[in-house]
Amino acid sequence: MSTDAIVLLKEDHKEMRRLFKAFQDAEEGPASERQKLVKQILEALTVHTYLENEVMYPEVRKLVPDVEDDILESYEEHHVADVLCFELFTMDADDERFTAKTTVLIENVLHHVEEEEQEWFPKVREALGRNQLQEIGQRMIDLRPKAPKTPAAPKALKKSLDAVVA
Ligand SMILES: [Fe+2]
Ligand SMILES: [Fe+2]
Repeated sequence: MSTDAIVLLKEDHKEMRRLFKAFQDAEEGPASERQKLVKQILEALTVHTYLENEVMYPEVRKLVPDVEDDILESYEEHHVADVLCFELFTMDADDERFTAKTTVLIENVLHHVEEEEQEWFPKVREALGRNQLQEIGQRMIDLRPKAPKTPAAPKALKKSLDAVVA
């Protein structure tokens, strides 16, 4: 199994796209199914965001100054997603805003993931060697079990709040 940081993050993105598609397919179905899928989406996003915020972004910012603007924009996009995730976490699937909010979350995350994959991950791959990317990936693998799994977990909440208050 690869420990390359970009490969790992793209695997997460793939899983997100699968969950997003499943949600869209469930739009006409029972609310309980949408609730279940959103729970999975929130977990996937919370873990992924944590690993990027804690490891990938600060490391890349330090090592590849060229993509600093992309990283700063990414933090802002994560922040918008964090707010939506937190709101969804407290919402029932039969709320009239549930599907609309999830749809906006999905649109935002897809846009963000596209930018990562198309615009700046390739620059990072070019700038960093294989070993460096594997080291960063290994750090994310090691941190993953400690990552928060819901937007209301203290570690996740603190990040979102810091972003507002700082
Ligand atoms: Fe990201
Ligand atoms: Fe990502």
